[in-house]
Amino acid sequence: MKVLVTGGCGFLGSHVCEYYRKMGEEVVSFDNLTKHELMRTGYDVEGARFYNWNNLKEKGVSLIEGDIQSREDLFEVIKDCNYIIHTAAQPAMTIAIENPELDLATNVVGTFNVLEAARKYDIPVVNCSTIHVYGNKINETIKEGNTKFIREPPAIDEDHPILQGKLTPLHASKRTTEIYVQTYIDTYGLEAATFRLTGMYGPRQFGGEDHGWVANFAIRTVLNLPIKILGTDKQVRDILYASDAASAFDAFYKNRKSGLYNIGGGIDNIISLGECLELLRKITGVEQDIRFEPARLGDLWYFVCDITKAKEKLKWEPKVSNEKGIKKLVDWVKENIVLFRGEKR
Ligand SMILES: NC(=O)c1ccc[n+]([C@@H]2O[C@H](COP(=O)([O-])OP(=O)(O)OC[C@H]3O[C@@H](n4cnc5c(N)ncnc54)[C@H](O)[C@@H]3O)[C@@H](O)[C@H]2O)c1
Repeated sequence: MKVLVTGGCGFLGSHVCEYYRKMGEEVVSFDNLTKHELMRTGYDVEGARFYNWNNLKEKGVSLIEGDIQSREDLFEVIKDCNYIIHTAAQPAMTIAIENPELDLATNVVGTFNVLEAARKYDIPVVNCSTIHVYGNKINETIKEGNTKFIREPPAIDEDHPILQGKLTPLHASKRTTEIYVQTYIDTYGLEAATFRLTGMYGPRQFGGEDHGWVANFAIRTVLNLPIKILGTDKQVRDILYASDAASAFDAFYKNRKSGLYNIGGGIDNIISLGECLELLRKITGVEQDIRFEPARLGDLWYFVCDITKAKEKLKWEPKVSNEKGIKKLVDWVKENIVLFRGEKR
């Protein structure tokens, strides 16, 4: 089978490419290699940008530099594929607020083009959304525990009301992609799903302040740089290790139950920012310099996915524990330390 991964040179996309290459499948990555987010991290931009490209090349992935906003290029690569995994996106809330047009063009127009290609050639497709679409009104339903916020019931399922609370352009663009996916399922009978993804982490994640907080904490811990907490370290996620996220896409391909799914670590992988920092201290032996700053607009202080639907319909569940996954992330950061030593820190 031939798998097309849009955004294949990104964090999640690279793990999806790797997953299918390990299974012996033909894999094509279609990525515009944007440096927009990397330029803001202070890392070695060129080194970081081409890290996944070089890594995937060694693994035998076909690499195409192209933009999902160019329908012609996209249709050309998609036409003889058997499965499309659409991870290309503008994923950061901060960048969406600063540049709503980039966010709209990448997320909405780009996803529309991917769906049009999928419809034309009748190819199953999975779109990536985010748990942010539920909205930050969830912050009003949580209580403060000793080390983290708590909520009853702890996990939130797909029937929970969406877009509650203060909205940002990222809420608008990501929710729009979900509506289009459902529209193509209902109107054209396309086999398709949207994954509402939780915070993911793992090797090959160049996490900065905009997006990828677990990696950002790990990198800054290993480099002994100050770590910024926006608001409180009691914020909670059910984090998901990259290879577990990658296997969810294959679960959809095998089971073909179209629709919307929460994909996260679930209640077994709940962690607060403070607990994550503690785990990193234990793994590295580094006492971090932690600084508190005010919370940001749109921040969601608590989210834990109820993954029952994905377990039942896709026969998928995460396997990697937070301890094991974070250790692997730290090992990767240490092996590639030179990439994170930029001028601007
Ligand atoms: N990382 C997370 O924790 C997280 C959480 C929730 C949802 N998601 C979603 O998962 C998906 C993947 O996220 P990620 O963390 O791997 O992001 P990423 O930024 O690491 O990767 C995205 C890739 O898409 C590419 N891209 C951007 N614009 C493009 C365009 N116009 N044409 C072609 N390629 C383009 C980028 O070059 C990049 O390689 C996104 O949809 C994101 O919103 C991620």
